[in-house]
Amino acid sequence: MTLAASSKAQLDGTRPEGSRDEREAAAQVREMFTRIAPRYDFLNHLLSFSLDHVWRWRTARRFRTILMRPRARVLDLCCGTGDLAFALDRVRSGSAAPSASREARRPVIGSDFVEPMLVRAREKARVAQRAVVFSAADALHLPFQDASFDLVTSAFGFRNLANYEQGLREIARVLKPGGEVGILEFSEPGSGVMGALFRFYFRRILPRIGGAISGDRQAYAYLPGSVAKFPSPAGLAALLEKTGYAEVRVASWNFGSVILHSARRA
Ligand SMILES: C[S@@+](CC[C@H](N)C(=O)[O-])C[C@H]1O[C@@H](n2cnc3c(N)ncnc32)[C@H](O)[C@@H]1O
Repeated sequence: MTLAASSKAQLDGTRPEGSRDEREAAAQVREMFTRIAPRYDFLNHLLSFSLDHVWRWRTARRFRTILMRPRARVLDLCCGTGDLAFALDRVRSGSAAPSASREARRPVIGSDFVEPMLVRAREKARVAQRAVVFSAADALHLPFQDASFDLVTSAFGFRNLANYEQGLREIARVLKPGGEVGILEFSEPGSGVMGALFRFYFRRILPRIGGAISGDRQAYAYLPGSVAKFPSPAGLAALLEKTGYAEVRVASWNFGSVILHSARRA
């Protein structure tokens, strides 16, 4: 699956090739992640040289003030196999043994609309004794009440939504006033030698390795294509402000190729 060549630079949401509307885009995204779920973790760590762990850990640390409140309600959207949710729980539990203060703290909730991802996430939580629960949910139609979370995060998932504005409004709906959002995403790297090198790797090398190992060339061609079409950091910051958030902050890592947006629900 590649992105339609005729797409405009900043889409309303992702549009995998052949999808004519939001419903078809979401269906294609769901099918794609269902297909690659068995190799997802392995390829993630391999293709990022395990830097993905560092990016998620930094993201979790960014919200430690909220996470240290044991009764704070935390939701990780598009959680996949759960790695950001686990990082959030690790920050929350501090240096204590995972099971030590389990009863005292509210479990982080991870949600995703691909069941094979959630099956893996639940197994990882069981093995690592993490206080995280996983439930199936579409990020654009969350089954949670208004104003019910203190923190909502997403790592490398938001870009795949069929409607970015609706995604941000839905997050704002479930956040308590003053609650925070964190969106970790890939972005087009900056100029300079390292940016150019990374661009070459991301566009030319990564899709080949990912395609060869997963047996799904379309899925790994979709990755750089969808990043190229995703709003710029300034564009996403503006969309956050438009959809009811304040104190928008942008952190840029890995030569501008990984961006964390954080903001507070106004
Ligand atoms: C690239 S993976 C990221 C997984 C995980 N957050 C991580 O850091 O590895 C993107 C995930 O977003 C999920 N996803 C995409 N669109 C979604 C939607 N509308 N609702 C819920 N999950 C969605 C996919 O099923 C997939 O598991």
